[in-house]
Amino acid sequence: MNDTPSYNGPERVFSGVQPTGALHLGNYLGALKKFVALQHSHDCLFCIVDLHAITLPQDPGTLAANTRKIAAAFLAAGLDPRRAIIFVQSAVTAHAELAWIFNCTARMGWLERMTQFKDKAGRDKERASVGLFDYPVLQAADILAYKATHVPVGEDQKQHLELSRDIADRFNRQYGAPGFFPLPEPLIKGPGARVMSLKDGTRKMSKSDPSDLSRINLEDDAETIARKIRKARTDPEPLPATVDGLAGRPGAANLVGIYAALAGISDQQVLDEFGGKGFGVFKPALADLVVDALTPIGKELARLNADPGHIDAVLQDGAERARAIAAPVMADVRRLVGFWGN
Ligand code: TYM
Repeated sequence: MNDTPSYNGPERVFSGVQPTGALHLGNYLGALKKFVALQHSHDCLFCIVDLHAITLPQDPGTLAANTRKIAAAFLAAGLDPRRAIIFVQSAVTAHAELAWIFNCTARMGWLERMTQFKDKAGRDKERASVGLFDYPVLQAADILAYKATHVPVGEDQKQHLELSRDIADRFNRQYGAPGFFPLPEPLIKGPGARVMSLKDGTRKMSKSDPSDLSRINLEDDAETIARKIRKARTDPEPLPATVDGLAGRPGAANLVGIYAALAGISDQQVLDEFGGKGFGVFKPALADLVVDALTPIGKELARLNADPGHIDAVLQDGAERARAIAAPVMADVRRLVGFWGN
C-alpha cells in the first residue's frame, strides 16, 4: 500500500512540438488532433519547444520563422487561442530554470536508458550536444512548471513521459513535499499514435527522413497527397478480413491505421469495408480521406503564414498567460529547494 499523499490539484494538459520543420500526418494524428479535442474539456497549454530544437544544430535565420509556422499549424488544425494557451518555450524562463533544478534530481542512469538519445546521437555520441542528452529533463520541466497532469503525445514520447513521472516523484520525496508535483499521465492510446513511413512500414513517419515521399505534410496539395499514397510501399496481397491478417504486413497495417484514425473507426471496421479488396481500390479511398482532412488545414495554414503579425500577437498573449501559471509554481519550487530570498 502506498500511503504517500498524491497530487490533488486541478487537471491540466500540456504538450509540445519542436519547430524543426513542416509538420506531417504523424504529428497531426499523434498530437494535434488530440490537442484540438482536449481544448474543449481541459485547461490546455500547447508549446512550441525551441529550446529543445537547438539540441541539434538549427539555422538561427530560420528558427523564428519555423516557430511561427508551428503556431500557424496549431491554429490551422483548429486550436483556439481563447481556449488553449499557445506559446513559445524560450519566452517563459521557468522551463530552463526548472530544467536545471531537475538536472540535480534526475540520475545519469535514467538518461542513459533513453532510446531517443541513442537514435538521435547516432554512432558518434561523444560529439552530441550535452543538451541532446539532457533533452528529456527539459521535457519534464515543460510539463511540471505548470503542474500538468495529462500529456497528449505520440507513442515515441512514452519513455520520456515515464522519465517525467520519475523526476516528479523523486523531487517530491527529495524535498519532503509529497504530492507537490503530479505524476503526469501520457495520453497516447488510440489510432494514429504511431504513424509509420510510407516507404518503410517498420519506421516511424518523421520530419527528418530524407525522402519526402515517406511522409504526408500538412502543406501538401491534393495531387501530392494522392501521389504519395499511390507510391506507398505495400504488398501484392488484397487486404485481409481481420486485424490478425495484418501481422507481418507493416505497409498495409500502416495505411489501414491511417484510414481508421482519420475516419474515427477501428482497424477492424476498416477491414469490414475493405477486406478482400486490393490496394488499387483501397489507396484511392484513403487518398480521398486524407485530402478531405488535410486540404482545409493546408489552406488555412497558407493564409496564416501570410499574417505573421497575428501569429506574434497570439504567441505574445500565450507567453503572458503561461508565465502567470508558472510563476507561483516556481516560487514554491525555489522555497522547497532552499534558495536565498524565498
Ligand atoms: P516532436 O516535435 O518530435 O513531435 C510532436 C508530436 O508529434 C508526435 N509524433 C508522432 N505521432 C504519431 N506518429 C508519428 N510518426 C509521429 N511523429 C511525431 C510526437 O509524439 C509528439 O507528440 N519531445 C517532443 C516535444 C516536447 C514535448 C514536451 C511533448 C517537448 N516538451 C512536453 C510533450 C510534453 C518532440 O520531440 O515532439
